[in-house]
Amino acid sequence: MKMTMNSRLARLAPLLAVLSSMTFVANAATDFVDLRHVTAIHGDAAAGETKVTVCSACHGTQGNAVVPQFPVLAGQRAEYIYHALRGFQRRADPASPMTPQVKDLSDSDMRNIAAYFSAAARHAAVPATVDAQLANDGERLFREGDAARGIPPCQGCHGVRADGHPLSDRTAFYRLFPLLRGQHADYIAARLASYRDDKIHDTSNARIMRGVAQNIDDASAKSIAAWLSQLGE
Ligand code: HEC
Ligand code: HEC
Repeated sequence: MKMTMNSRLARLAPLLAVLSSMTFVANAATDFVDLRHVTAIHGDAAAGETKVTVCSACHGTQGNAVVPQFPVLAGQRAEYIYHALRGFQRRADPASPMTPQVKDLSDSDMRNIAAYFSAAARHAAVPATVDAQLANDGERLFREGDAARGIPPCQGCHGVRADGHPLSDRTAFYRLFPLLRGQHADYIAARLASYRDDKIHDTSNARIMRGVAQNIDDASAKSIAAWLSQLGE
């Protein structure tokens, strides 16, 4: 009897293994938003312009934010902006100042707003006080990473000029890798800390950056951010 039970279980084992791996896949699939197959965003920038008056209070005129805690949006890829807005809407995090801003936006509003900001010219808000040594260290980390500390080169994904992924022109997916050139240093450093500390992880791309940011200490984040913030157009 005992033998029979065991052999029945043994015969069931492969099936059980398949079932449990299926459960795992199902969980993993609903666990985060998969952005690997996004399509291009074709919004109407003129229609978007009618919706952005409220945004300029924080993100500045045409998305050129002057306050360093608020990200520059001008010239950012439309696909990145659109999916960022959808993310704020989906998460509805009460602690985020973005939650009330996106609450009443329709899907086409978000497409149009994305088209508007991506077409706006980016004016680097050049901070007068970037330390040259700090910026040099940051540039080296951005270009080469630091293998000994497990920091990958940023340029492979964000472009050697920090103006987006080298394959951006080919596929919408790569337009989800944001432009970092001329972005505020404080914002970049804060974002890197959020990825590192696992505060953002609900999309496939946030998971990529979470992995990247694991070994980035605050001093390294500060130097990379300093270099990026002073890059002109
Ligand atoms: C009260 C200030 C405030 C207003 C008004 C505001 N935002 Fe924001 N926005 C923020 C802050 C702060 C962040 C950074 C949030 C974070 O890191 O989670 C942000 C982030 C964003 C991002 C993500 C940028 C990136 O690089 O990831 C987008 C896109 C955005 N806002 C669009 C908008 C739009 C469109 C509007 C108007 C409909 C708007 N914001 C209004 C404060 C504001
Ligand atoms: C393997 C590809 C990859 C590498 C390498 C990479 N990134 Fe990213 N990065 C991404 C993706 C994808 C996103 C978009 C994440 C999201 O949607 O939340 C991103 C987002 C960011 C953001 C958020 C920008 C914003 O506007 O909110 C910052 C800052 C950033 N990366 C900095 C860096 C730095 C610094 C490095 C190098 C240490 C680096 N990244 C290396 C893929 C990468």
